[in-house]
Amino acid sequence: MKDRKTLFIIFGATGDLAQRKLYPALFNLYQKGFLKDHFAVIGTARRPWSNERLQEVVRNSVAGMENNALEINQFASHFYYQAHNVNDTEHYNTLKKLANQLDEKYQLDGNRIFYLAMSPSFFGTIAKHLRSQKLVTENGYNRLVIEKPFGHDLASAQALNDDIAQYFDEKNIFRIDHYLGKEMAQSIYAIRFANPIFSSLWNNRYISNIQITLGEVLGVEERAGYYENVGALRDMVQNHILQLVALLTMNAPVSYKDVDIEREKISALKSLKVYEPDEVRQNFVRGQYGAASGMPAYRDESQVDPQSMTETFVAGKIFVNNMNFAGIPIYIRTGKRMAVKGTRIDIVFKDMPNNIFSNEKLNPNILTINIDPTPSTSLRLNEKEVSEENYPVSSVKLNFKHSSALKAKTPEAYEKLLLDVIKGDSTNFVHWEEVRYSWRFVDAIRKAWDEMDENPAIFPNYDCGSMGPREADELLIHDGNYWEFNPLR
Ligand code: BG6
Repeated sequence: MKDRKTLFIIFGATGDLAQRKLYPALFNLYQKGFLKDHFAVIGTARRPWSNERLQEVVRNSVAGMENNALEINQFASHFYYQAHNVNDTEHYNTLKKLANQLDEKYQLDGNRIFYLAMSPSFFGTIAKHLRSQKLVTENGYNRLVIEKPFGHDLASAQALNDDIAQYFDEKNIFRIDHYLGKEMAQSIYAIRFANPIFSSLWNNRYISNIQITLGEVLGVEERAGYYENVGALRDMVQNHILQLVALLTMNAPVSYKDVDIEREKISALKSLKVYEPDEVRQNFVRGQYGAASGMPAYRDESQVDPQSMTETFVAGKIFVNNMNFAGIPIYIRTGKRMAVKGTRIDIVFKDMPNNIFSNEKLNPNILTINIDPTPSTSLRLNEKEVSEENYPVSSVKLNFKHSSALKAKTPEAYEKLLLDVIKGDSTNFVHWEEVRYSWRFVDAIRKAWDEMDENPAIFPNYDCGSMGPREADELLIHDGNYWEFNPLR
């Protein structure tokens, strides 16, 4: 059955995430018939809004996506607002009454999705009250959806998890990493496990190195208040980059089912080589952008400390020490104010063991997965060049690029992930054990950097519009490699 019965309760309904991502995603699901007559949304936040006010905000956030005005009004009529203080037990009783009324009105069979689009410091309190005030139903499903940041180190993540786990089972906790909702990130499973040519080569006998870039052109925008205490390592590496590393290095799961996938992802992240401080110095580079091309330095952005030591760029060399990947350097980098917005993975294969074309230098085969902005997969091969010369060999590229029609049809990450929550499928979510091993890895880097603060990094050390500091290139040059993705070359 397509029309899924669900009550969404969104904590943080007046916020940016709800307006930019959640309401449009729900509207797409509505247009596709996954949500139809049997759904309702309760938006909560501290502000004293009315149902009408929320409905107006919802209409505005989906404006332009509708086929007709009637559709948009019908969709918005399923939204209800309840002003709510998350620390006030009495407010949960009021919320429960409304939830029960809507359950009856829309015949929702007690199915509830609690979406916490707010600061993690409230997760524990909300989870506790949902249970104690019996917003959690007995007859339907009850799923908790949470957003990052999931702690700021392993200890705080563990405390947060212990708190929530008292009230919700792991299988009902859906930790969002929006990169897992991206079409080409999900495609990694097909590339690896549906193609014998790749599955048989996907190991340390044939792969020379892996390169992952998550470049952004934007700076910190209005988020400096958050970003100053977080930095690129926690903002992008702990979650998005390590999730991609897990997808690229996990062993083949028994099946494409959440339990099987998460088992292998956990194992990959558990196999990350955790660095000693000295190794961090050799294998990780941090950067902060300085003014260039008319753009201000990070330290001159509003709400940023003029002496800030927060990194806006990270590059590193990672090892996953399992049987298939031990010894393969995985180079990663991410940064704000880089030359291009681009999320790209390059799998660089090893050279031929023997080159019979002695006059020709053979380029390595490279499989490139472009996640953003234009989804594509390409494979670099060597071919004979048409020529009268003896035997010239040169590289060609087989390229499958998503057409604009295909791109337009591709659901946005949040739409896919919300549908998965409705279906109860946690394949593309992050298990607690994954969070644990990711923090264990990241904490070792953070700790080494904090200890170096007596002898601190020299910031700023890269220009707006560049591909990061020189040291990020040297990391590869040192191994005889270079970044394949270089839009400035
Ligand atoms: C978020 C980070 O998780 O991901 C942001 O907090 C970053 O700082 C964003 O800009 C990047 O996401 P995307 O989908 O635009 O690559």
